Amino acid sequence: MNSVKVGLLGLGTVGGGTVNVLKRNAEEIARRAGRGIVIAHAAARDLNKPRICDTTGIRLSTDPNEVVNNSEIDIIIELIGGDTLAKDMVLKAIEQGKHVVTANKALIAKHGTEIFAKAQEKGVMVGFEAAVAGGIPIIKAIREGLAGNQIQWLAGIINGTGNFILTEMRDKGRDFDDVLKEAQALGYAEADPTFDVEGIDAAHKLTILASIAFGVPLQFDKTYTEGISTITREDVTYAEELGYRIKHLGVARRTDKGIELRVHPTLIPERRLIANVDGVMNAVLVMGDAVGPTLYYGAGAGAEPTASAVVGDVVDVVRALTSDPKNRVPHLAFQADALASDPILSMDDVETAYYLRMQALDKPGVMANVASILGAQQISIEAIIQKEPVDNSTFANIIMLTHKVQEKQMNQAIAEIESLETIDGQVKRIRMETLN
Ligand code: HSE
Repeated sequence: MNSVKVGLLGLGTVGGGTVNVLKRNAEEIARRAGRGIVIAHAAARDLNKPRICDTTGIRLSTDPNEVVNNSEIDIIIELIGGDTLAKDMVLKAIEQGKHVVTANKALIAKHGTEIFAKAQEKGVMVGFEAAVAGGIPIIKAIREGLAGNQIQWLAGIINGTGNFILTEMRDKGRDFDDVLKEAQALGYAEADPTFDVEGIDAAHKLTILASIAFGVPLQFDKTYTEGISTITREDVTYAEELGYRIKHLGVARRTDKGIELRVHPTLIPERRLIANVDGVMNAVLVMGDAVGPTLYYGAGAGAEPTASAVVGDVVDVVRALTSDPKNRVPHLAFQADALASDPILSMDDVETAYYLRMQALDKPGVMANVASILGAQQISIEAIIQKEPVDNSTFANIIMLTHKVQEKQMNQAIAEIESLETIDGQVKRIRMETLN
């Protein structure tokens, strides 16, 4: 049987990794797919740029339209990124009856509904395993392996760059900007690295995970997003003294009132496996009613780990080329006409525990005032430590851990504490999850 011809849009880090993996493992991949898979045509903005892959034998164009319009191509791999040109190219490929594989989380999180509807109409597949958690086959695990479960919640470290930065800051005391530069040089970071450090990239991925876990539409605009740029070494140290690690976590939880969808720095007990996931590694903890907790771990970014997911999707597409389009695995795990309408909760309605740090005047009665504000909002304190003032300051650092409470009550308490004359500046708040 003839090899399947694939068109590749983008020859950057992941594109180069994909060419290398498909070439190096060609024989085994063909044995798995039942046919050879070759990249016949690729597009890159600048054909003279140095590459991590050998493009011998691949027709090259600067215009991605030439690849999409190539009638010999059956599958388009979209690795352009962003959601403008990439979206146009993906929709155009689908319109022409071509299958698509993409690593583009922004594209799927923001335009997945439109793309999947078009793909269904045209009877083609859209694979997006590489869009979430790099090389970890988490989409397949939730969509297929856990299909017998009601997923109750999931929590994941789903941005490799952010985890790499937090780990290097904690372990080596390195400076934020310096580590970010290294993550960029290693090809981990997004074209715009604020997507990594401000949590937008993780929010794209969480949107996708929540959709396939709970069978709800993709709702990126309702995902609460907070980045890691406000995390200080002080907080990392105090959290450790209390037995916790700070991780940048995406959390999706089904509750009686609706679905929590949130990305933010989070204290996690240090004994949890996920608290020990370091560097560029990602991990996703998924709680199913039948299976219990399951944990998926692997490289969250980088050329070949992401290529591994891309190629896995291409193999899936090739295996299903002759199958009935109406009976394929649904893009979002649940049948497109069977999505649920559970509301996404606002942060006011989310319940978590908290780490609070405040600068308080070191004199009698201050702690009692703070405790009585918390008590009035039904917030119970789990632990307190006080750090004596340094450098002749009159303010001591007070660190508190609280039990779970609704965020709106915590907001009210923080506003009242900040208005006390004995408290200097803002109260630092980091949410806390026990994940048990
Ligand atoms: N910038 C992303 C990350 C790449 O660091 O996780 C993989 O999606």
